[in-house]
Amino acid sequence: MSTINYKAEGDVNFSESRKEWQQKLLPDTTALLKTDADYFIHQALSTPCLEVLAECDGSYIITASGRRILDFHGNNLHQVGYRNETVLTAVISALTKLPFSPRRYTNEYAIGLAQKLGSLAPGLNKVLFAPGGSEANSMALKLARIHTGKFKVVSMWGAFHGAGLDTISVGGEASFRSNIGPLMSGTEHVPQPNTYRSFWDNDEDQDKNVEYVRHVFECEGDVGAFIAETIRNTDVQIPTLNFWRRIRELCDEFNVVLILDEIPIALGRTGRFFAFEHYGITPDIVTIGKGLGGAVFPMAALLTSEKFNHAVGHSVGHFTHEKSPIGSAAAMAVLEVIEKENLIEKAQQNGLIIKARLSEMQNRFEMIGDVRGIGLLWGVELVTDRKSKTRAIEHAEKVLYHCLENGLSFKVSQGNVINLCPPLIIKEDELLSALNILENAFIEIIH
Ligand SMILES: Cc1ncc(COP(=O)(O)O)c(C=O)c1O
Repeated sequence: MSTINYKAEGDVNFSESRKEWQQKLLPDTTALLKTDADYFIHQALSTPCLEVLAECDGSYIITASGRRILDFHGNNLHQVGYRNETVLTAVISALTKLPFSPRRYTNEYAIGLAQKLGSLAPGLNKVLFAPGGSEANSMALKLARIHTGKFKVVSMWGAFHGAGLDTISVGGEASFRSNIGPLMSGTEHVPQPNTYRSFWDNDEDQDKNVEYVRHVFECEGDVGAFIAETIRNTDVQIPTLNFWRRIRELCDEFNVVLILDEIPIALGRTGRFFAFEHYGITPDIVTIGKGLGGAVFPMAALLTSEKFNHAVGHSVGHFTHEKSPIGSAAAMAVLEVIEKENLIEKAQQNGLIIKARLSEMQNRFEMIGDVRGIGLLWGVELVTDRKSKTRAIEHAEKVLYHCLENGLSFKVSQGNVINLCPPLIIKEDELLSALNILENAFIEIIH
């Protein structure tokens, strides 16, 4: 019997606020939710569900009862918005011409995408595709083993790298890891650099985080890979420049493959195409996914360099949809939209609007302990008081449900961190409207 983990990513399925929310739903919606819950296996962060969707469009999800909700969650896959015309046209074209390409055959869609991805980061011009982010990380872990001959992996507590047995082993969240039996062996975890709740005092540069990693590399002696998100998406943790530069050096010193998981944050979300560009480092392997499929098709990839191109005796991926024409067409269209519509610059500019508004809110509302973010990825950490920094879990839930009722959806991480992740195509009036909804929720909760 599993327990409810209030610190898990996302809202809790069984809270009082959820019960109140359910009572307000229309009878038809309630009936559909019940049928859903009757058939789907119940699981944390998923079923029973919040609402029933009928459509999605641009920055909105639209419920079966016709409510339009600005989607600042979108599972981090809606960089170019929902039902993007360029994406749909490309997908329909592939769908009607070459919907599937059996393994051992290739096609121009996949070749074109490989070339395009290979041109995006200097030196990272070898690719493998996968049907999901978890699988892309699995392939990265395998490649690191094949390359170094070492199987041990260092990763971070609290991390999420996918729901597979290998990826939950390098992940660091109890709701995935606990009470589920033996995980992959040879995994070590280190603390996540955290600017608000650092493990160590007086460590602004996060040198102690780096020393801890060095300690693990030295004590284990044969670590093969270090995997982490460059910037953690869930509770928005942005490591210092010093941290990533020193970790890059450490990985070189210990012959450890540096795998950066940018599945939710690449493709411009942070104001750069890859988040690692903010740090002036290049990983050995980067994994991307989610928005790569244009909010249409499951599509992920790993990008690496020629020196990892010696796995000929292994089936590293071997996925049925390995070189999907539809997924590749969707991804090419996404890259085209990002370029043509200057979505990366737009993310930087809109990020400044969010930053200014959230800072104002922090000055006004005592419950906002910390505001942090970059580009179009923001975290608002709610606390019961700023001194103790006690996580304000109930406040966060009330804010979430208040916003949902008023037309804004987002995710709550760690029980108290509001995660704001709008589509990059968002219009300014939509952004301002979302920020107004959030601000009104704070006002309502205080009174
Ligand atoms: C950082 C990170 N890595 C990996 C994954 C797994 O991606 P997928 O759900 O496509 O397997 C996710 C999904 O949320 C993620 O956020």
